[in-house]
Amino acid sequence: MFFKVLSAHISGIDATEVQVEVDTADFGLPYFTIVGLAEGAVKESKDRVRSALRNLDYNIFSHPITVNLAPADLKKEGSHYDLPIAIGLLASHSPDAYPVNSTLFLGELSLNGALRGVAGVLCICSWAKNFGIKRIVLPQENAEEAALVSGIDIYPFDHISQVISFLRNENVCEPYKAANNSHSAPELMYEHDFADIKGQFAARRAAEIAAAGMHNLVMMGPPGSGKTMIAKRIPTILPPMSPEEALLTTKVHSAAGLLTHKGKLAQTRPFVAPHHTASDIAIIGGGAKAKPGHVSIATNGVLFLDEMLEFSRSVLEVLRQPLEDGKVTIARADRTVTYPAKFMLISACNPCPCGYLGDNRKSCLCSPAAIERYRGKLSGPLLDRIDLHIQVFGVDYKDIKNIADGESSYVIRKRVAAAHKVQAERFRDSGIHFNSQMNEKLLKKYVQPDPSASKIIGVTMEKFALSARAYGKILKVSRTIADLTGEINVRSEHIAEALQYRMLDRE
Ligand SMILES: Nc1ncnc2c1ncn2[C@@H]1O[C@H](COP(=O)(O)OP(=O)(O)OP(=O)(O)O)[C@@H](O)[C@H]1O
Ligand SMILES: [Mg+2]
Ligand SMILES: [Zn+2]
Repeated sequence: MFFKVLSAHISGIDATEVQVEVDTADFGLPYFTIVGLAEGAVKESKDRVRSALRNLDYNIFSHPITVNLAPADLKKEGSHYDLPIAIGLLASHSPDAYPVNSTLFLGELSLNGALRGVAGVLCICSWAKNFGIKRIVLPQENAEEAALVSGIDIYPFDHISQVISFLRNENVCEPYKAANNSHSAPELMYEHDFADIKGQFAARRAAEIAAAGMHNLVMMGPPGSGKTMIAKRIPTILPPMSPEEALLTTKVHSAAGLLTHKGKLAQTRPFVAPHHTASDIAIIGGGAKAKPGHVSIATNGVLFLDEMLEFSRSVLEVLRQPLEDGKVTIARADRTVTYPAKFMLISACNPCPCGYLGDNRKSCLCSPAAIERYRGKLSGPLLDRIDLHIQVFGVDYKDIKNIADGESSYVIRKRVAAAHKVQAERFRDSGIHFNSQMNEKLLKKYVQPDPSASKIIGVTMEKFALSARAYGKILKVSRTIADLTGEINVRSEHIAEALQYRMLDRE
């Protein structure tokens, strides 16, 4: 007999419908086959389903069984088809006992029939709700995550035997209700605070401007000058994520399989700091399962490249697409997957191999050739995507003790949030959100330096032989500086300050 069960395919953070069709013949030699471009874990599904059902004493494998995952031209991956295949098999023997209309099934089976959590549940549930599906049956482990989507009934179970009794109405169940109210406004809780950083006024100011206009920032300075400390605190001065931002970030984390046990909407902006030995695939995403990489996991937050010049050239190279487009496309032999990759890039590096070039506490021992080689990676396309470059100076430990605490993240965040609001208003109909995203046309429209400001730019551009691209960046940053003080016009002092953040152009 023939029976159909609903499940879903996931590509990136988007889901689509998959019909699991099961056909059991009454006569013929026994076989069990899965067709419909089943890959990897789906192929193995057969063995898990067979063992799970046998262990429950369902001896239904003495007939020919064909499972088709439709549409057949879409490659299916993942272990979440186990449950729909098993239910389809049982139901093909007694269709009336299994009312599965408008019900979506997801879940991996262990050999004894226990249900195991799967990745991407939030993405599937969001899609299912919009698609008009009424109920979802899934592993208990994914319940919290699924419950983030309201307006769809979630039925979580630990074991397939419970699913069977539920469907046969032997066991009355209420839809799952989330234990915590995940839809309430996020409470910002950070381990670090800007108040921990003493002195460093210039670097703190640059971090505030970067956060206010979502500009990328590179900090160059000697060891122990507080670069890592500052970077870690940048998420704490960004305003809380909007519900849409939180959902997007959580979906990416769901697709990456980072949510299975927690199932909470992301509360704070991600801070992702890959090690400099990380591979291209770890950074950008990919591998056999085309999982999202660090650039996507950092969506709506900060990607921090500490010791940036220690990363391989190819890693720095692959960052260009996400920095430009806010998304990343992973091409595999048979398909492409796209993930969002909307992050703020913060990077830190030493000025030379020994680290002490320009430091007043220790002298640098590096040869000019060694310094040039070391800085080589910084030049070119990557640097073109970084609006602010600053030098961070070391502070003597004995001085640190005597400096009062700096402003708290809470105070800075309020100013940053006000600047974000001004930009939201300005770019309402422009399709962008922040000053850093302005193109030439928008720059002309929104940044018109007054005559004295224009003069300063002209003189500086000539003196330091700055490129046209640097010019655009100076204008964007000065727009943000003006926004931080709530000024409509970009004036000479805004330009003069923005010029200070082009340290690497001047060398
Ligand atoms: N301005 C500061 N205020 C308070 N503590 C500081 C400051 N600067 C540095 N420190 C202390 O020094 C430690 C080292 O700072 P951090 O790791 O941020 O330096 P870094 O610039 O990243 O150095 P490296 O180049 O070696 O990575 C911090 O953990 C902190 O204890
Ligand atoms: Mg560091
Ligand atoms: Zn040196």
